[in-house]
Amino acid sequence: MQIEIVEKIDTGKLSLVLLCKENLEAVRAGVPNLPRDLELTAEDCNKEAQFRYWTADQRWLFYGMGHLEDVSPEAVRKLIHKAVGEANQTKASHLQIVLLGMTSHHDARLLAMALGEMPILSNYQFLVHKTQEVKKNTLENIYLLTDIADAKRLVKQAGIVAQAACLTRDLVNEPPNIITAETLAAQAQKHGKAAGIEVKVLHKKEIEELKMGGLLAVNRGSALPPTFTIMEYKPKNARNQKPVVLVGKGIVFDTGGLSLKPTPGSMDSMKCDMAGAATVIGTLVAIAQNELPVHVIGLLPATDNRPGYDAYTPNDVVTMMSGLKVEVLNTDAEGRMILGDALHYAKRYTPELVIDLATLTGAAVVALGSHATALMSTADREVTQRLAEAGERMYEKVAELPLWAEYDEQIKSDIADIKNIGGKGAGTITAGKFLQRFTDYPWMHLDIAGTAYLEGAIGWRPKNATGTGVRLLHEFLAHYA
Ligand code: BES
Ligand code: MN
Ligand code: ZN
Repeated sequence: MQIEIVEKIDTGKLSLVLLCKENLEAVRAGVPNLPRDLELTAEDCNKEAQFRYWTADQRWLFYGMGHLEDVSPEAVRKLIHKAVGEANQTKASHLQIVLLGMTSHHDARLLAMALGEMPILSNYQFLVHKTQEVKKNTLENIYLLTDIADAKRLVKQAGIVAQAACLTRDLVNEPPNIITAETLAAQAQKHGKAAGIEVKVLHKKEIEELKMGGLLAVNRGSALPPTFTIMEYKPKNARNQKPVVLVGKGIVFDTGGLSLKPTPGSMDSMKCDMAGAATVIGTLVAIAQNELPVHVIGLLPATDNRPGYDAYTPNDVVTMMSGLKVEVLNTDAEGRMILGDALHYAKRYTPELVIDLATLTGAAVVALGSHATALMSTADREVTQRLAEAGERMYEKVAELPLWAEYDEQIKSDIADIKNIGGKGAGTITAGKFLQRFTDYPWMHLDIAGTAYLEGAIGWRPKNATGTGVRLLHEFLAHYA
């Protein structure tokens, strides 16, 4: 998709005009070729007011947004999403978007970003395995007419982030017979290298040498070897002295292992269980392409989780890389096993901050549904707050759960240091408490089980992989330090 900023609206193309009570004059002045017989009135600017106007050589979509103070980035995103849908339905290849009179809007920056990201996010399709009756979107070119300061730079930057979120979507939507631990690592290598990121893949032998007991235990049922991928983006002008480390859960398919998930049912969408890793890849690609001045390292432990002949077994005691001994009582609580090792590995960087992303618990879906990612944090209140605010701005909301000491009781083991399940109640928190045992630095844990993969579209977030987390982390890191 091509996105361009233009000075005027051309005839012959579909145009979306976003109206509010206060921008009518700016629209009239900025679009002198509005249909002559069309009289735009205050009513046309009402929230929800939407009409089409067709002339001999032009098709217009007019969407109202109410008063200027009702114009929010999310409202604009939704309307662009709707227009992209209309464009494709009517087989248009071009769409012009008019957003004028916004120079003094308090969220002007986010409005400009919405113009850059939404056409890409909304036009997304995953068609690589369709060989017949492909209903390919027709929309290819976007022209933006806007008076927001610095729009050109903001649109370009947001477009890069949206493309990276689509890369994350692609990786998650790919089936598990294509995305294995090895091919996931190869994808990280390919996309990382292209963005100027250093990528190193540790293979089974090195993982054994490092004694990553958690990752190796989960991998025991698999016919394929595990991988541990390290991505490093270190710009010369990095503002942070010590790196920010991003850790992503890379379970390329989660059958549950010997504690097998029921099917049909909870196993059906478990190719999504590497969404954390895919989000880290997308985020690193985005920040590198946008040349953000932050030193960031990505760690991706990866394997499938299966009931093979040598599969790890309930009652096993596993020695993790940190030396901590874990009693396995459910092989389906595998995410924390591989993340425990990755979080321990992160210590070698003496990180300033570590953020992990994982489709970790069904309990996060019970608690928050698909409207928010669960956050647990040992970082400063101020840093935690900044992540939550980035979530509000990008409409990738996070809701914080506590990491109180009381919950440690639930993961006490009779015979080992801890066990890998926390019993009834607070399943998302006890998973977080498990992970906390492998950290000794400021840390934020994002449980994306409810937000990474959807059963049906919600607003502009598509069915299946959403790419949630890439926009959030890019926004957070863009304002880092
Ligand atoms: N990958 C699942 C969690 C999940 C559930 C992700 C739904 C996305 C949607 C995870 O590995 C898992 O199986 N968790 C168990 C933990 C339990 C055994 C303590 C769960 O949530 O049931
Ligand atoms: Mn599981
Ligand atoms: Zn899992």
